[in-house]
Amino acid sequence: MTKQEIILAQKEFLFPSVFHYFKEPLVVERAKDQFVWDADGNQYLDFFGGILTVSVGHCNEKVDAKVREQLGKVQHVSTVFLTEPQVALAKKIASITPGGKLTKSFFTNSGTEANETAIMLARCYTGSSDIIALRHSYHGRSSMALAVTGHASWKVGPQTQPGVVFAHNAYCYRCPFGLTYPSCNVKCAQDVEELIRTTTPGRVAGMIAEPIQGVGGFIAPPKEYFQIVSEIVRKYGGIFISDEVQTGWGRTGNKWFGIEQWGVTPDIMTSAKGLGNGMPIGVTVARPEVADAWKGVHISTFGGNPITNTAAKAVIDLIEEENLAANAADTGAYLRAKLEELQKKYPIIGDVRGMGLMQGLELIEDPASKNPAPQHALRLMEGARENRILIGRGGLYGNVIRISPPLNIQKSDVDEFIKRLDSAFRSLN
Ligand SMILES: Cc1ncc(COP(=O)(O)O)c(C=O)c1O
Repeated sequence: MTKQEIILAQKEFLFPSVFHYFKEPLVVERAKDQFVWDADGNQYLDFFGGILTVSVGHCNEKVDAKVREQLGKVQHVSTVFLTEPQVALAKKIASITPGGKLTKSFFTNSGTEANETAIMLARCYTGSSDIIALRHSYHGRSSMALAVTGHASWKVGPQTQPGVVFAHNAYCYRCPFGLTYPSCNVKCAQDVEELIRTTTPGRVAGMIAEPIQGVGGFIAPPKEYFQIVSEIVRKYGGIFISDEVQTGWGRTGNKWFGIEQWGVTPDIMTSAKGLGNGMPIGVTVARPEVADAWKGVHISTFGGNPITNTAAKAVIDLIEEENLAANAADTGAYLRAKLEELQKKYPIIGDVRGMGLMQGLELIEDPASKNPAPQHALRLMEGARENRILIGRGGLYGNVIRISPPLNIQKSDVDEFIKRLDSAFRSLN
């Protein structure tokens, strides 16, 4: 198919809700390591990784060799039979969860399903139904996952799931209470107690939160935040679910999981994206007594699939062998410093935030008003494309640039990226 035929076929045969970046969609033909090529043969430096999913580079040789080997053995039998890749992956994950405390996994195909499973499990374990979620969150596209999503633009269709209450977000750049950290005494976290006492029966099933909100625009709460909210939630009978779909597998630097940056051990973690480096996989991992609370039988046809699970185990092994969580911290700090230099140059960059190789730029009209500037973000995306770099966009107002390259990029890639991003910012004037 030609590029034009692909664009036309997308319009004709896919749901219009399958949206794409850019005025003219970017048709990708192939990708390798940190590079992507479009249908016209242009090469791009990929600093978005297919939404934080290409964790160890496109078409990684080591991962793909193991996948090819497994393809020649067995591709699918479903979970009613046992295969080595599924248990090998579960065993590996159990060994790296915070404190080694979350040791039982349930595999699915996406982050959405991982969160569905987690919420059902929290309700089974506690016998309560109310879930606390955060404003600005994104947890997936199913009915339940959308019910715990705090973003109007994604909450399409009638809302059919009761039992969800939304806490104010730890969004320091735009504090919902108009306060300033640290003199705020982390009011957004303390307020969760008031939320439980006024909007629930006084007992909750749990709280679900992303350590750093991804779609929400890489919002990272202050260091005390998760300690405070997890204690409050447990006081009222609930458990704490960390959605690690974007923050897992070394992304935030030096730790396997984002929540470890806050020193909190969750009861359940969910993940997907970067675990498979592009293979569709979701996982819900829980403390054993929590996992055991799901009585009766449960199945996911493709969950635990030998191919995807082989890929995921290979990804984790590679991150470990090549110390990529440390690279995320080191190269991430280097990237952050360069982004802060850009902020000094361009006042429309209101905030630079994130951790490791998960860095965001919130674009504003001007520092005095701090008005969100989605128009700048849209133009910057086009400029980035012209400069042959791939970045993402997010945030409630669509004004946050998301930067999340593969974990094995080098400082020389960052230098090249910054040079091109600078040029894209310059072209906004
Ligand atoms: C934090 C978070 N949770 C869940 C999901 C849903 O994952 P999926 O798209 O694999 O269903 C996403 C997707 O962007 C996400 O960012």
